[in-house]
Amino acid sequence: MHTTQIETTGALDLTWVRGQFPSLSQTVNGQPAVFLDGPGGTQVPQRVIDAISNYLKHDNANTAGAYATSRRTDAMIAGARFAIADLLGCDADEIVLGLNMTSLTYAMSRAIGRELRAGDEIVLTHLDHDANISPWRALEERGATIRMVEIHEEDCTLDMDDLTRKITSKTKVVAAGYASNAVGTINDVREIVRLAHRNGAMAFIDAVHYAPHGPIDVRALDCDFLVCSTYKFFGPHLGVLYGKREHLRRLEPYKVRANTNAVPNRWEWGTLNHECIAGITACVEYLADLGRHANPAAPTRRAAVLAAYEAIQKHEHGLMETMIQGLLAIPELKLYGIRDPKRFDRRCPTIAVRIDGHTPLELATKLGERGIFTWDGNYYALNLTERLDVEKDGGFLRIGLAHYNTAEEVERLLTALREIVASKQ
Ligand SMILES: Cc1ncc(COP(=O)(O)O)c(C=O)c1O
Repeated sequence: MHTTQIETTGALDLTWVRGQFPSLSQTVNGQPAVFLDGPGGTQVPQRVIDAISNYLKHDNANTAGAYATSRRTDAMIAGARFAIADLLGCDADEIVLGLNMTSLTYAMSRAIGRELRAGDEIVLTHLDHDANISPWRALEERGATIRMVEIHEEDCTLDMDDLTRKITSKTKVVAAGYASNAVGTINDVREIVRLAHRNGAMAFIDAVHYAPHGPIDVRALDCDFLVCSTYKFFGPHLGVLYGKREHLRRLEPYKVRANTNAVPNRWEWGTLNHECIAGITACVEYLADLGRHANPAAPTRRAAVLAAYEAIQKHEHGLMETMIQGLLAIPELKLYGIRDPKRFDRRCPTIAVRIDGHTPLELATKLGERGIFTWDGNYYALNLTERLDVEKDGGFLRIGLAHYNTAEEVERLLTALREIVASKQ
């Protein structure tokens, strides 16, 4: 296993981290696998796998029954809500569990659509994943007008002046991403929320891409909604939605009659994926333990999670600097997004590139043969690939670092890309 141990206080214990993830020890064609596919879904620690299988072994039941396994299921789901509340900095009854971010966003956009009148406006951005665009565009059929916020092409950041202009007294919802899943840009979410509220609009934040990389505090952001997907931050394939209690109570979900009107259950329909929900607490506990390794004095689970993110960010920033510097030295390579190391606090370690003479699919395939997992295409950030006119040419090659990656893995990616480019010259 390739590891780099960092000993300083508050730093990531990478040997411990990698030991938590059994899948990282896989090989491909005789080479250790390098997981640079985190933005599509991260690997999971053993404890998540154990929690899922233990639930199926011991507690498998439907909810609200008058017997042991059903009661344990109820307690387990309540525990998962508390865990996510600690992760996001809110109360457990403000957490809605669901299939994934996309379905939760559609459910909420439909409910908000019931309040809209012709002429009401919704502000979206070109930087967003389609899951934070299409559910809102669907409200055009109810007479809503969509306003798209521009980007600065040179560094793929949001044009905040355009955003300020487009949010008006007609705006009912501003839906924006916390970070771009294609080019890594971190938006000034607090400012976006402030601008929305100044005009009486609600702010809906897609934190799917940001969640594995940085701490989230929904109270400090003051956002009305925030969505993320646990499979992007070391958990099972599920989505979670935070909603301010007042909105979860006031808005009318489409739901079956037998579903109670209690918050948050009125937003959770049918039988949920209990075994995966069991994995949620384990994944938050993993992050908390990571934080306790970095800072054993962390007094609460939330404090430990925040310590984890501090260690994660320090580690990822180091890898990102080496990766970006190495990529920029490759001839004919174009790197999209923020390139200036002084501004790296405004980007995630998710890097989109194109290399002249190679399609992104060809690069991803050749890297894949060497055991290096990257993505090609648009990853549903379709508005961005269209806006940058790369959609017709296969989108980007996306290299996504996570905290379990190592300096050796960065070097392997760079060496492999250099070889692939040189072999065609
Ligand atoms: C930024 C972003 N938003 C939304 C989604 C959709 O999430 P889900 O698969 O949970 O619906 C993704 C998935 O890749 C994403 O990266």
